[in-house]
Amino acid sequence: MRCRTTQKNKVNFFHMPVPAERQDSRLMRAMFGSIAPRYDFVTRIISYGMDRRWKRLGVAQATLPENSLVLDLAAGTGDFSKLVRERRPKARSIAMDITEPMLRLARAQGLDEAVCGDACALPFPDATFDCVFIGYGLRNFPNLKTAVAEISRVTRPGGLMVSLDFFLPPNPVFREMYLAYLYAQGAVWGMMLHGRPRTYSYIADSLRSFVSIQDLSSLLERTGYAKVDTRGFILGGIALHWATKSG
Ligand SMILES: C[S@@+](CC[C@H](N)C(=O)[O-])C[C@H]1O[C@@H](n2cnc3c(N)ncnc32)[C@H](O)[C@@H]1O
Repeated sequence: MRCRTTQKNKVNFFHMPVPAERQDSRLMRAMFGSIAPRYDFVTRIISYGMDRRWKRLGVAQATLPENSLVLDLAAGTGDFSKLVRERRPKARSIAMDITEPMLRLARAQGLDEAVCGDACALPFPDATFDCVFIGYGLRNFPNLKTAVAEISRVTRPGGLMVSLDFFLPPNPVFREMYLAYLYAQGAVWGMMLHGRPRTYSYIADSLRSFVSIQDLSSLLERTGYAKVDTRGFILGGIALHWATKSG
């Protein structure tokens, strides 16, 4: 599997340590496999219910043809697929994730096309999809550039990529408060639900070594996307990107 790496103590461009889970797909699968049954509950709690609103906006602002074919990448339990189905009943959504227990939950919620796969080696021909949605996925991929190149490859000219993810807020004071909040929330829920604080404090670790909102926009522009729109929430701690592939 191309995404897999077991290199330890890796650092990113800013010399921030890259979490072990992002360097080893077995650890990534083990982490998300263990939290899968409670994933939806914790996501709603940690975001105070705002997560659903952000995803709904991500879909609402995406211009999708009636019969569109979309990929819900790093789908988890398939939130984006469900929202696309609500908005475009004739659309077809393929939910793909590297963690099988997440996909089992997606199938149990009526998403028949839920397949296991790696974002860095997508098993689809070029220009297959009208849109690729990624909810909190990019930050977890071991090689962001490879994953973005793959997403661009499988998107048709004029098609879209929509990503929702965490980012480090630009204001340094708020950034520290935000990280402290995510660590504390994550540790409490990790301890209460799994007896392991680390389970959810991974969120804060992973975003420390992730790119900024602007850097992700620039990467998309360099990878075949002609137009990139963004909308930030929580003072830049969360953002949506809508990127249109060059025609
Ligand atoms: C935080 S969850 C997001 C789930 C869902 N998209 C949402 O918005 O709630 C991140 C998901 O990314 C998946 N993932 C991590 N690395 C991946 C990879 N290389 N390829 C595909 N999926 C991956 C994990 O298994 C996990 O289900």
